[in-house]
Amino acid sequence: MMRNHLRLLAVLLALVAITSMTGCGGTQNILAPGGPAARKIADLGWFVIVVFSAVTVIMWVLITWVAVRRRGTLTEHQPWDASGGLGWILIGGLAIPAVILAVVFVWGLQTMSAFPLGGNDAEGQPPMIRIIGHQWWWEVHYTVGNVSQYVITANDIHIPSGQPVTIELQSADVIHSFWVPELHGKVDLIPGMTNRIRVQSDAPRSYRGECAEYCGPQHAHMILSVIADEPVVFERWLAHMREPAPVPTEPATTLGRDLFMRSACVLCHTIRGTDAHGSVGPDLTHVAIRSGLAANSLPNDTASLSAWVTHAQSLKPYAQMPNVTAFNGAESRALVGYLQTLR
Ligand code: CUA
Repeated sequence: MMRNHLRLLAVLLALVAITSMTGCGGTQNILAPGGPAARKIADLGWFVIVVFSAVTVIMWVLITWVAVRRRGTLTEHQPWDASGGLGWILIGGLAIPAVILAVVFVWGLQTMSAFPLGGNDAEGQPPMIRIIGHQWWWEVHYTVGNVSQYVITANDIHIPSGQPVTIELQSADVIHSFWVPELHGKVDLIPGMTNRIRVQSDAPRSYRGECAEYCGPQHAHMILSVIADEPVVFERWLAHMREPAPVPTEPATTLGRDLFMRSACVLCHTIRGTDAHGSVGPDLTHVAIRSGLAANSLPNDTASLSAWVTHAQSLKPYAQMPNVTAFNGAESRALVGYLQTLR
């Protein structure tokens, strides 16, 4: 009987260990830092995991020991009010937890103070990237050079690798939270406030991030990518982004552009170099090279783009993007074809 209980306990503990380890894995792994800020958090995370796991194991060993030992009738044991055992409570219940929690507290404060949430970038310059949270997408501004060189994009945040990049965080509506677990901890985007976050990717690679503060029905579909490029690749990307949208050359894509310019699309979207100057939805100037659609909740391919244009409300209910049902099949295809030329 006892052996069965112990076996069950061992299986449960193994399951808990496996789920807690796999839960931290995948593409948003706080224990696989890609830069200095995330590394500080991961160090603290490892300390907490190792020490707290050790405490858990010791507790279970003690509980099992008591369960095994405390058998038989009450007459065979000391009465409940027998003295002794106070040492266990003072050391195990008070001194050891106090030391461990004090270490975690001080270490946590040190980790937090290492991340400035205000101020300029490492060179004292104002941040070159501003992110504005929207229900439910990320507006991204690059404010380097003069105003005519400013770039607005969405959901994909390119940064140069190997150097600290300060990002300004604002919100257009409710509180969101910028969280790219492999680069930094969570920092909120609060209406009327400007927070700053300094991220650094040691190597060129991409990261997945999420909004980490519940912000409405599509909170889970508020996904972003941080793409760290070699600095020369980043400069090339930024130079390309400054170009206006390419002019369509084929009859079908030209028809698509004309349909776009004639429809309500222009009230919400900007395509630089055209008459579309809306600012409610994402800038579409180079939408075809972005990694996803609908705040990266859909792949950026023909099927998803067609579905998004015609039935956004069934894919992302309550999003500001309406269903566009005014076009027939050929017109929809032309419109989607035009959007796909916006590279
Ligand atoms: Cu934005 Cu949750």
